[in-house]
Amino acid sequence: MTHEVRAVVARKRGAPVSVETILVPNPGPGEALVRVRSCGVCHTDLHYREGGINDEFPFLLGHEAAGVVETVGEGVAGLAPGDFVVLNWRAVCGTCRACRKGRPWYCFATHNATRPMTLADGTPLSPVLGVGAFAEKTLVAAGQCTKVDATASPAAAGLLGCGVTAGFGAAVNTGGVGRGDSIAVIGCGGVGMAAIAGAKVAGAGRIIAVDVDERKLKWAEQFGATDTVDSSRTDAVEAIRKLTGGFGADVVVDAVGRPETFRQAFYARDLAGTAVLVGVPAPELTLTLPLLDVFGRGGALKSSWYGDCLPSRDFPALIDLYLQGRFDLGGFVTETITLDDVEAAFAKMRDGDVLRSVVVL
Ligand SMILES: NC(=O)c1ccc[n+]([C@@H]2O[C@H](COP(=O)([O-])OP(=O)(O)OC[C@H]3O[C@@H](n4cnc5c(N)ncnc54)[C@H](O)[C@@H]3O)[C@@H](O)[C@H]2O)c1
Ligand SMILES: [Zn+2]
Ligand SMILES: [Zn+2]
Repeated sequence: MTHEVRAVVARKRGAPVSVETILVPNPGPGEALVRVRSCGVCHTDLHYREGGINDEFPFLLGHEAAGVVETVGEGVAGLAPGDFVVLNWRAVCGTCRACRKGRPWYCFATHNATRPMTLADGTPLSPVLGVGAFAEKTLVAAGQCTKVDATASPAAAGLLGCGVTAGFGAAVNTGGVGRGDSIAVIGCGGVGMAAIAGAKVAGAGRIIAVDVDERKLKWAEQFGATDTVDSSRTDAVEAIRKLTGGFGADVVVDAVGRPETFRQAFYARDLAGTAVLVGVPAPELTLTLPLLDVFGRGGALKSSWYGDCLPSRDFPALIDLYLQGRFDLGGFVTETITLDDVEAAFAKMRDGDVLRSVVVL
């Protein structure tokens, strides 16, 4: 059986998205059909729409979702119809070279559904990050479904599927921020704000929020920033050094992904500190740094794919923190919208009006 559902499709590079009827097949072996309850609008959806990731149009957008399992295919264990799940784009394979080395959060061969979802005329869709959840139903690999406490609000829970986990993990998993450490976060959208909230949960001492938009800096204080820097008016590197005894922060997270912000992260670290790049750079961008500074400043320059998360370990734990009132996941939901509002939500994101617009179905 094929399911006809409404979904948000990007047909052409840079063109506005459209809401269309698409066809979703029943799950094959190892797959699950999920009735989507919520899906957040992440900047990465916009990167795909702009052709900044690859050219495999048409894309089925949306990848930050929670839902309820409707049916599962042959051979699926540990997942059943009715389960409340957060979708992930890291269904670890267990057998690639990263998994075999005991580092599954780097898994190089993650699973996605193999049966294609299509436009009404049969044209195969490319689901963003193998998820495609701006849709009433979507088809994923069973491993992309992480069961979490069903009392969580879907709009909040779904955000763990990408941006919040990426930011939280960039600070805590990749950056290794812990008790008493100092951290600066450049770019306080949904991702950067989650890095701030994560640093607070991890017990960081000084948490410095940096953005060019004052409204984001106000929000950052609510999520745990101890200090804020408006880098449209102030030199970010100098300001961060001043706030850290003249030395720089132990960890600096770049949640923007531009040469100028990465350079700030590089120089705003203390000696032997860590710079974490979690913002996704556009393909044409390049960076030049004095090699002697790379050597002389020591420490680590790390990229954070999906916050180096392990969904089976991290999603239930973050949901617990949220339900205990120790992590304000609900605070990331600025507005709830419908599938018809996704294009408008991209504009609001660009204008800095929202942390997350979340489609609720
Ligand atoms: N690595 C991953 O796994 C992963 C996952 C999700 C998203 N991302 C990426 O993270 C980035 C942020 O995503 P988001 O959803 O938070 O985006 P967003 O658009 O909501 O936030 C970006 C923020 O950066 C600020 N900003 C822009 N230019 C700046 C500058 N020069 N200096 C300081 N601040 C600046 C903006 O004011 C805004 O607050 C995107 O590139 C997105 O693709 C990466
Ligand atoms: Zn693997
Ligand atoms: Zn995302």
